[in-house]
Amino acid sequence: MKVNRYVDISTVEKEAKKDYIDRHSPFLYCADTATKGEKFKVTVKVGNEYSHPDDFDHYISYVQLWDGETLLAQSNYEPGTLGNMPNQVEVDFYIVPTKSKLKLAATAYCTKHGLWANEIKEVKVS
Ligand SMILES: [Fe+2]
Repeated sequence: MKVNRYVDISTVEKEAKKDYIDRHSPFLYCADTATKGEKFKVTVKVGNEYSHPDDFDHYISYVQLWDGETLLAQSNYEPGTLGNMPNQVEVDFYIVPTKSKLKLAATAYCTKHGLWANEIKEVKVS
């Protein structure tokens, strides 16, 4: 299995490559700290500056949220969910941390261009 990884697109020269990398990469947004036993919101958005197609043969079919090696949640999509127009898949996950640290990571799967991941985000839980 190959996992494609996000690279800072400001370091990429070709516009088409910037677009390709950005539109497939899952971006994870959450607070830097969480409280043990309390609900914690984690937003994952696929693409930051660019949008991905939503065609019948080419779409983002799932987004996963991981804590280290543990899969916490997954959101599945059918083609047409975003109106068959380019857009950014976006989902809010709510998790309840029970350990002292979270190592959150997101993946996104494109039906044509495979699995993509971004950097791990550490969250302190107190
Ligand atoms: Fe794609």
